[in-house]
Amino acid sequence: MPDVAQRIRALRKEINEHNYRYYVLNDPLISDGEYDLLLRELEALETQHPELVTPDSPTQRVGAQPAEEFPTLRHRIPMLSLENAMDEEELRAFDERVHRWLNVTGEIDYVAEPKLDGLAVELIYENGVFARGSTRGDGVTGEEITSNLRTIRCLPLRLRSVERPTPMLLEVRGEVFMTKAGFEKLNQERSEVGESLFANPRNAAAGSLRQLDPRITASRPLSAYCYQAGTIEGESFATHWEFLQALKQWGLPVNPEIRRVRGIEAALAYYRELAEKRHELPYEIDGFVLKLNAYALRQQVGIRSRSPRWAIAGKFPAQQATTIVEAIIPSVGRTGAITPVAKLQPVQVGGVTVTNATLHNQDEIDRKDIRVGDTVLVQRAGDVIPEVVKVIKERRPSGTKPYRLPEQCPVCGHKVSRPEGEVVARCPNLACPAQVKRRIEHFVSKNALDIDGLGIKLVNQLVEAGKVRSVDDIFKLTYDDLVGLERMADKSVRNLLSAIESSKDTTFARFVYALGIRNVGEHLARVLEVHYQGNLSQFMDATQEELETIPEIGPIVAEEIVNFWRDPVNRDVVQNCLKRGVTLKPVEPRDESPSFAGKTFVFTGTLERFTRSEAKALVEERGGRASGSVSRNTDYVVVGAQAGSKRARAEALGIPILTEKEFFDLFG
Ligand code: IVH
Repeated sequence: MPDVAQRIRALRKEINEHNYRYYVLNDPLISDGEYDLLLRELEALETQHPELVTPDSPTQRVGAQPAEEFPTLRHRIPMLSLENAMDEEELRAFDERVHRWLNVTGEIDYVAEPKLDGLAVELIYENGVFARGSTRGDGVTGEEITSNLRTIRCLPLRLRSVERPTPMLLEVRGEVFMTKAGFEKLNQERSEVGESLFANPRNAAAGSLRQLDPRITASRPLSAYCYQAGTIEGESFATHWEFLQALKQWGLPVNPEIRRVRGIEAALAYYRELAEKRHELPYEIDGFVLKLNAYALRQQVGIRSRSPRWAIAGKFPAQQATTIVEAIIPSVGRTGAITPVAKLQPVQVGGVTVTNATLHNQDEIDRKDIRVGDTVLVQRAGDVIPEVVKVIKERRPSGTKPYRLPEQCPVCGHKVSRPEGEVVARCPNLACPAQVKRRIEHFVSKNALDIDGLGIKLVNQLVEAGKVRSVDDIFKLTYDDLVGLERMADKSVRNLLSAIESSKDTTFARFVYALGIRNVGEHLARVLEVHYQGNLSQFMDATQEELETIPEIGPIVAEEIVNFWRDPVNRDVVQNCLKRGVTLKPVEPRDESPSFAGKTFVFTGTLERFTRSEAKALVEERGGRASGSVSRNTDYVVVGAQAGSKRARAEALGIPILTEKEFFDLFG
């Protein structure tokens, strides 16, 4: 027992440290797979010893039951808003005012930050442990959303105290947001199951954070950056910059784009740079925030009723333009959902040529009354798919007609179905070539079975030639099926066949994700893998009630899963895959050969008998870990030819060094 408690403590510490490296330093030491392994071990130990579970354990992100409503929480210090500047002139005027108020000349020390387009929240840590959190609300009182905030993975449940002791009380403000990629994926998934779409990442973040059921929040891709101090007891800072550095040391995420700038010219240079860079950032921003750095000076200039005098937001101009809708093309997705896409006369929006915009569904088209020939206002926010904001009715040519999605599937001709009360029209024909193609594309994609060389063009050819009708047909493909297809000569065919062969050796999580069950993304596939311990047939026979007991699986997903397995076609596909050689790696092999359990290996230099990732897999299969760097925690370093600094470091630390052969012998 003391051993288990000790191991649990060590695992938590290690996992928290990896979170810090990943979310704060942006410099992970281990792969996602290695991280998962640690988390799984902790989960397994905590399941066996529920008495050792603590609320700040990294496994305890989703624990609470859905709330009836959110209680309110009064902010100890009001959460103010910001005054806006629309251009450089107004920013210069701000700097002049600050000079006047402070009665100083010379350059002023500021901190410049991106203005995140999300939702402001307050987090409260008591003695280093996350205690409560709330929305900004009206600035005086917000809604207490502690259970939801706990599910945001980049927010630590316990502060680090390695470089700096944690304060008795830390109130910190920041922004919760959704990345552009996360937003698009979420909307895509929602459109496929006929749920209403979020208009932009900001709304998606707000909607996700204000869910009464924390399991729903947990399933949404939320992130956060901290940027402002509330009350702090047990620590004090002279400047905002120092405060931000302390946040990082405590393991809180701080935007890496934040800079110290001296004087207004440097601030404006940052503003211009950020405007240029805006579209490359993975999240949306709508401007920048300029803040006085020294707290003493902030004190001197003071605040107005709703905004501080010591800060200002410099907004970016909107990214909009007008163009003409040349056509509306319905496109069929993996689940048969038919999405109308507007083909636009090419137009420059924020430095990028836009030619397509999604119109989402018939209801959206009706609501905005978008017709072919219309002049429309389009908007692009970062990498988010461009959208039609509105029609300029004054410029509508005569003779246009309201647009109606076709009654027949544009690809297979099957009658389209749109059940009462649903927004999405769907082609119900599972054999529809468009759906088959999209399903196969998903099945072979990088994070699914990862079959290299089976790209869209090839998939299209195979489906059109009738050689592949469902995903299991991939494993029946022969040399003759492939040779002679476009760009498929002898060598590419052999490469593809061998890629298909090696893809068969996969994991439960990859396979389940590959099947494309609605709403089961990579993360949930992993959750299911852990729950079912890789037992596929148990998962296939799961009941709705049983699935709902799994953390993070709510009623909607549970129903999707049950429906998926109710369909004999899906069960056949899986049986065929298994018959044709797909095997799922065992999940918890630790118990079988305990000799490697808890041992950490580092591979370095050129290995001869296997690749680096094969070596890693060998170790992991036996319950060990493979890491990228040598530290005091490393148990063995395996060296190939031309091993360099890692070997030297291992020698310096006195860590056993193995040749490839010795490593093999160790395996027996
Ligand atoms: S500082 C009094 N810093 O902007 C200081 N706010 O208009 C106010 N925001 O409600 C907060 N990025 O939601 C600050 N780097 C940043 C910000 C930021 C976005 C939002 C925040 C706030 C609103 C104020």
